[in-house]
Amino acid sequence: MLSVRNLTVTVQTGRKSVPVVDDVSFSVGRGEAHGLVGESGSGKTLTLRAVPGLLPHGTRLDSGRIFLDGEEVTAMSRRRLRAVRGRRVGMVFQDPMTALNPVMTVGEQIAEAPMVHFGWSRRAAGRRAIELMREVGIPEPERRARAYPHEFSGGMRQRVGIAIALSCSPGLLLCDEPTTALDVTVQEQILELLRNLRATGEVAILFVTHDLAVIAELCERVSVMYAGQIVETGATAEVFRRPRHAYTLGLLRSAPDPRAARCRLVALPGLPPDPADPPVGCRFHPRCGFSDDACRADRVYRLRRVDGHRSACVHGEAVADA
Ligand SMILES: Nc1ncnc2c1ncn2[C@@H]1O[C@H](COP(=O)(O)OP(=O)(O)OP(=O)(O)O)[C@@H](O)[C@H]1O
Ligand SMILES: [Mg+2]
Repeated sequence: MLSVRNLTVTVQTGRKSVPVVDDVSFSVGRGEAHGLVGESGSGKTLTLRAVPGLLPHGTRLDSGRIFLDGEEVTAMSRRRLRAVRGRRVGMVFQDPMTALNPVMTVGEQIAEAPMVHFGWSRRAAGRRAIELMREVGIPEPERRARAYPHEFSGGMRQRVGIAIALSCSPGLLLCDEPTTALDVTVQEQILELLRNLRATGEVAILFVTHDLAVIAELCERVSVMYAGQIVETGATAEVFRRPRHAYTLGLLRSAPDPRAARCRLVALPGLPPDPADPPVGCRFHPRCGFSDDACRADRVYRLRRVDGHRSACVHGEAVADA
């Protein structure tokens, strides 16, 4: 479905071009949910935004290739990319308000993409919009389709955001912290909606979050990012049960049981490095209780397969036994 190969994204700081996503590779299978987790600034959002070619101003795709259904996104014309973005990739962001147009009714906004991309009539697209509103759990959809975003609560707006993202039945849904801005009970409802969507098996999801519990619940695969790199990746159950990277272990230990409670990430001791001047060797070594000289060796970063999953930690065995 989605394959990201050696993605590097840079930001320009003064005269220097600094990699903030550094040689990242992963894939998401059809109907599969893949979580990207890591501390603030680790490069999750930029990785996700690179997929539909929506890197923000000030950042640049430096190298790497991205394939969607075998077709190279990174080689597409702008026009082709726009079509792919609307039709085959849906996007749900943290703040639903930024994605909505304040002066258009909700129904019109949900109907828009199918009209543009499939040439549907206003009536047909309008009927589909109401159906979608029902599917995402908006009560009285016929009436509420005529309302404007400001008449909706935060949770209802995020449902609208999800309905828009699903309006062209995309094969891939990109979610960037879709519940972070919502209060806890509403978060729960949105997650329930995403879980139900998962259960249909019709859409693959790339899910960016700080929340390990959400990943444990929603994603069968996970990639852990640290300082722009994937440091561990594999089946979520396995990675969380027996992490093989000291950073993943730290994340899991700093959170209450990620399977039991919905939890925020408690900060690990220390700070992630300045992307302009990362430590030589493993970028996590200055914060790591397992580190020794091997971790400070130049070019030590390499994902190695151990058992079922891959980790870049040279002390993976010790971490797994810890
Ligand atoms: N538009 C931008 N211009 C310059 N630098 C940026 C821009 N967007 C992100 N960065 C930098 O790139 C790095 C990665 O940012 P990114 O937003 O991908 O992190 P993140 O993992 O999503 O963090 P968070 O959990 O806080 O959302 C950070 O150091 C950030 O400061
Ligand atoms: Mg982010």
